[in-house]
Amino acid sequence: MNEAIYKQRRDQLIAMMDDGVAVLSTARLQTRSNDTEYPFRPNSDFYYLTGFTEDNTVLLLSKKEGEEKTVLFVQEKVPEMELWTGKRLGVDAAKACFSVDEIFSIAEYEAQLKELLKEQSLIYFDLFSDDVVYTDLKAAAKTMMHTRGVARSPRTFSDITKLTQQMRLIKSDEEIALIREALAITGKAHHHAMKASHPEQMEYQLQAEYEYIFKKEGAYSDAYTTIIAGGNNANTLHYITNDHALKEGDLVLVDAGCEYGFYASDITRTYPVSGTFSPEQKELYNMVLDVQLKIIDAIKPQGSKKELQRLSERLLTEGMVELGILEGDVASLIEEKKHKQYYPHGIGHWLGIDVHDPCPYSDENGDEILFAEGMVLTIEPGIYLPADDENIPEKYRGIGIRIEDDIVVTKEGYENLSKGIAKTVDEIETACC
Ligand code: GLY
Ligand code: MN
Ligand code: MN
Repeated sequence: MNEAIYKQRRDQLIAMMDDGVAVLSTARLQTRSNDTEYPFRPNSDFYYLTGFTEDNTVLLLSKKEGEEKTVLFVQEKVPEMELWTGKRLGVDAAKACFSVDEIFSIAEYEAQLKELLKEQSLIYFDLFSDDVVYTDLKAAAKTMMHTRGVARSPRTFSDITKLTQQMRLIKSDEEIALIREALAITGKAHHHAMKASHPEQMEYQLQAEYEYIFKKEGAYSDAYTTIIAGGNNANTLHYITNDHALKEGDLVLVDAGCEYGFYASDITRTYPVSGTFSPEQKELYNMVLDVQLKIIDAIKPQGSKKELQRLSERLLTEGMVELGILEGDVASLIEEKKHKQYYPHGIGHWLGIDVHDPCPYSDENGDEILFAEGMVLTIEPGIYLPADDENIPEKYRGIGIRIEDDIVVTKEGYENLSKGIAKTVDEIETACC
């Protein structure tokens, strides 16, 4: 994406703000152990507004009585350090890259902040971040309050993410193209791994097959820690230890998606370790698949996630009654929340720069946000049948199945962005061999 897009986003954010100063930052490097650091990944909002990927950087937007100003603080270029730490953009080069009013060294942030906060009474910042620049922000506000001759000092703090998350809800064509690219790589990884899986393979070895393709194909990394859950491990929803051996005859549930161009993909496939579904696995799998297809098909503008949630609960409960996993009347089972024992999670979530893109699900009045063109969400029904649950037919115990795709709402309905990834029993069995 080019600078014009980021500038347009900054302008949009300023237009949404009341008079005040907004501060958004991206973190400093974090120590992993001793003198080694975690790989750096920019803060999602900061990246959305700048496209800049260096650490320890601050964006400041100010608005007062019709005057607007955008300031960026970046790390200085230190040529003697470049041999060790690689190149940085630096203040001078940054001036040629960003359409902002001023660029300073991050070393000047504290001093400049006091200038920029003068006669401002409202500060926007990321309420949920622990970033150290926000401590400086409070200190600067306090100093202003105690400075003689200053008529107005910041006394109101507001969460900037409320505005950025609203902006991030509708994805542009450029953003959807990045999600498509992430999904192309994720699809390759699932297909590669379906072929590579075999009994006695360790779950982490199958994970390595995914990570190999992610990196080989130019993804930044996984978008979240890959879940490789063989057999009954699939019944632990956030199973990420991935340290058991896969067994002949078991299914493996894999929730794996890469991040490409800082956009996430999020795909779950459940497939037989040795390439062929058993009859009972096929029954369960086809039930979940049928539900997933019906839910995807119900996506349309003006539709809602709550509606899809209710539909998924009804259809999965019907399926579980038909297969003898639950007994009784579907409406009463749902009323008594009996289905939640085997389908305990939501039908999906927004997807974007973050895998769980933190965009709103309801508006200011608490009313649900209805689907509109450009929203991207996952659809991921699943059933989880623990090995030690004696209430379910023995043949189904120890099986967990989830099927997850990534969908964009279109003007007419929807497009399944991950439709190319093997999903029917036949497609999976073909992909496995
Ligand atoms: N991979 C995380 C999720 O499906 O929500
Ligand atoms: Mn998901
Ligand atoms: Mn997932």
